[in-house]
Formats: sequence, structure tokens, C-alpha cells
Amino acid sequence: MKTIYIVDDNLTNLGAAKEALGGLYRTFAMQSAEKMFSMLKKIRPDLILLDINMPDMDGFEAIKMLKSEPIYSDIPIIFITSISDPQIEVKGFDLGAVDFILKPFAIPTLRRRIQLQISTDVLIKEAKGELRHIQNAMLGVIADLVENRDSTTGAHIERTQIYLGILLDRLKETGVYATEVSKWDIELMLPSAQLHDIGKISIPDAILNKPGKLSDEEFAVMKTHALKGEAIIDEIMEYTNDDGFLEYAKFFAGFHHEKWDGGGYPYGLSGNDIPLQGRIMAIADVYDALTSTRPYKEALPHEKAVEIIVSESGTHFDPVLVKEFLAAADEFEKVSRKSKR
Ligand SMILES: [Fe+2]
Repeated sequence: MKTIYIVDDNLTNLGAAKEALGGLYRTFAMQSAEKMFSMLKKIRPDLILLDINMPDMDGFEAIKMLKSEPIYSDIPIIFITSISDPQIEVKGFDLGAVDFILKPFAIPTLRRRIQLQISTDVLIKEAKGELRHIQNAMLGVIADLVENRDSTTGAHIERTQIYLGILLDRLKETGVYATEVSKWDIELMLPSAQLHDIGKISIPDAILNKPGKLSDEEFAVMKTHALKGEAIIDEIMEYTNDDGFLEYAKFFAGFHHEKWDGGGYPYGLSGNDIPLQGRIMAIADVYDALTSTRPYKEALPHEKAVEIIVSESGTHFDPVLVKEFLAAADEFEKVSRKSKR
């Protein structure tokens, strides 16, 4: 059964809507937008019926907030109002509402219009899912092309994405950095990590696959892959309508080589000035580099990699994240073992 929120400060209206929809939908009635936002943290609705005129936060403010949060922005919203004013309707549609229903409403009309919006939404989500699937498959191929030219990194891109997922799950569970993490659409974010080293496409083979330590000049060239990656993603953004995916990818590409003490590249940011996404990726990326064979080095055992990451807590890595990494280290080991079998 689909879930519908009814948000209206008027108790009579709330009751009428609830009665009209009860039995067909699971309904939750709320008397203010504030109550709606606290409820959203617990149960996600498939549609919101939103009153416009409410004390404190009105319907327009509420829809603006909903649309600005990636995790809520795709919930269809129908405004329900007693004022028939074309200008208000235009404003509502501009802000992202899918429909307007005038009070008092005829019950069959309310039901039909809700049903129409919900079935449209299901179709849109299916189509989006299919597109996302194709997009991820294509990205996998592109990332693999970059990766396999650099024949030594093996399944680096795939594993890094898994490590990232482990860390993000851990943060969600523990509530560490919750303000930032709760705003992220993790399902969208994870596959975007495949693009973090896309800038390596511009690094010459002789440097990328050099079987030995890079000279200072060569390392300087290697370092350009972070900014190049950002620029490539920027370019793609110019001719696509990004739903947040490329924005996530850009943060991974641009900030995964920054260091907590400011000694990283390309920006030399330090501490919390480094976007959290980059700080998380740094751990996932380095753990994989340490436990993998490279042209210039053997793979280190898991324990040694953990030791190195811990020893660089507060210099290379965010100390708060290193703690979470340690707590989830067993899971890292499982993935690293499995991929080397
Ligand atoms: Fe990199």
C-alpha cells in the first residue's frame, strides 16, 4: 500500500482528506510542515498533499525545502488549497508541485488525481532506474578502459567503490558526520565513485605504468589527474542535465588526494576544509593501493595496511574517519581477500 502524507493546519480538512483516502492508502495526517519534516526522517511517503496557507512554515517554504534535499526532491507534491488564483498555481508548479486540488474537493476527484500522480511517478522511477542501469554499465566500461590501460591496478575502481560503501554504511549506522551524510543520496553517490580517477586518461602510459618510483617531474604530471578529472566531469555536466550524480563524481575526482594536514593535492586543503566526500575516498583509495600489487611494489598484507593508515591518522587522514575505518577493518579485509583469490 502506498503512503500519503496529508499536511494541513485545519483539522476538519485533515479529517476529510484522511477519510477520503483511508483504505486505499496508508495515510499520515500532520498539522504543520515542521511535523512533516520530523516524520520524513522515519517514513518516506509516496506522495504529499500539502496545504499552502499554514502558520509558521507555509506550503511554498516547505516545498522549497523538500526540493532542495536530494533525498526528498523526487517525492510528488500536490498542493491543496482553498484559494483559486492562477498566479499562485503558476508559482506552485514552478516550485515543483505536480498538481493543485481546490478545497472543498469531491472525493472521487481527489482519489483519481492522486492515483494518476502515483502511477506516473512509478513509471518515471522505473524509467530512471533503467537509465541509471545503462549509465552505470557504460561508466563501468569507461572506468575500466582507463584502469586497464594502467594494467596494474586490477579491479581497483570496483573495489574502491565497495570500500567506500563500507565506510558510508558505518557512518550512517553510527551517526558520525550525520548532518552531511544524511543529505547524500548514497545509491546515486556510490557508482559515481567509478569516475574518481578518470583524469588518468590524460596521463602518458610511460608514467602511469612505470615499473619504479616516479621522478619529481613525473609525479608532478601524475598529480594533474585530480584536476583533469574534475575538468572532464565539468565538461560532461555542461551538456547533461545532472541529477547530482556528476556533482558527487566531481568531489571524488577533485578531492581524493587531499591530506588532513594540508600536504595533499591539488588544492592543499586541510582538516574539515576538505569536503567530507574526499576525506572518505582518501581512505578507501589508499587502503586499496596498499593492499594491491603495483608496478613498483608488492601488495601489503591487510594488517600492515591498517597499521599505515592508523599511523597517518591526523596527518594524511581525518582522525574521526580512521576510527570508523578501524571499526570496519574486518569488512575491508574480506573484500580485499576475496578479490585476490
Ligand atoms: Fe587518484
